[in-house]
Amino acid sequence: MADADTASAKSYKVDVPAQSEPFFLKGSNNLDWGMKNRLSNIFSPESGRTVMLAFDHGYFLGPTSGLERVDLDIVPLTPFADTLMLTRGILRTCIPPTYTGGIVLRASGGPSILKELSDEQIAVSIDEAIRLNVAAMAVQVFIGGQNETQSIHNMTRLVDMGNRHGIATLGVTAVGTDMVRDAKYIRLATRICAELGASYVKTYYVDGFDTVTASCPVPIVIAGGKKLPEVDALQLAHDAIQEGASGVDMGRNIFQADNPAAMIQAVRKVVHENFKPQEAYQYYQTLKTEPTPSPLA
Ligand code: 5RP
Repeated sequence: MADADTASAKSYKVDVPAQSEPFFLKGSNNLDWGMKNRLSNIFSPESGRTVMLAFDHGYFLGPTSGLERVDLDIVPLTPFADTLMLTRGILRTCIPPTYTGGIVLRASGGPSILKELSDEQIAVSIDEAIRLNVAAMAVQVFIGGQNETQSIHNMTRLVDMGNRHGIATLGVTAVGTDMVRDAKYIRLATRICAELGASYVKTYYVDGFDTVTASCPVPIVIAGGKKLPEVDALQLAHDAIQEGASGVDMGRNIFQADNPAAMIQAVRKVVHENFKPQEAYQYYQTLKTEPTPSPLA
């Protein structure tokens, strides 16, 4: 009853302004609550960064090396990832619904490795993305590729659908094998994705990467690319983070490592704790001697 309320002016803290903290993620302050909440399920609010485990490669490559048995070889790595990037087929068949990290759903596809890869279309409906409770939808963008406009159109349609429901869109810059992968090109591709509405962008680390992150108004995560020696992959992650990346979206350099569970934990140290590459490599070597993966601290 209103007249029984005896709260004093002190309880209302009338002299304290309402709290209004800026959102921690680059370029994301003006998004709505649901989108920010989903992005906080991808990026750690503590470090502002993410370790995404990418294993969506089968959508055009089939059962590539390291991904033959997702149930046996990838599921044990999932507690060490902030976010999983995968297809809806693998999500439904292999990933326990008790997983509480972010889900970034592969939302474009079409051609296999046997055909022109840039000829993709949107491969999932927004209803399905909502049903699967995803944090973001990932779409390949082929700047300079044969189907550049079509791939951009896929992205902008997903941005429109995602924005309507508070689901983020990850623009993935795909670089054809015949194209020069340098800072000038990566600046072009990442900036186009951001300008046309991507919530964040995935790209490749290149020399001059700090100019790429500086000129892109939304967060950038890097792909690992082809398998490297573990120490080199840790160096790559380190350099990208120190030059402004907000995380990694790493696949082959984790699941094709000598010890994938140790590798993803070492990558976490680089991304979230600013470990130097040699420090992280030593940590990797130590973990390699452990018989089973330890749970996240
Ligand atoms: C496919 C992708 C992959 O998820 C990504 O390239 C995988 O990462 P990595 O290069 O580290 O294996 O976007 O096009």
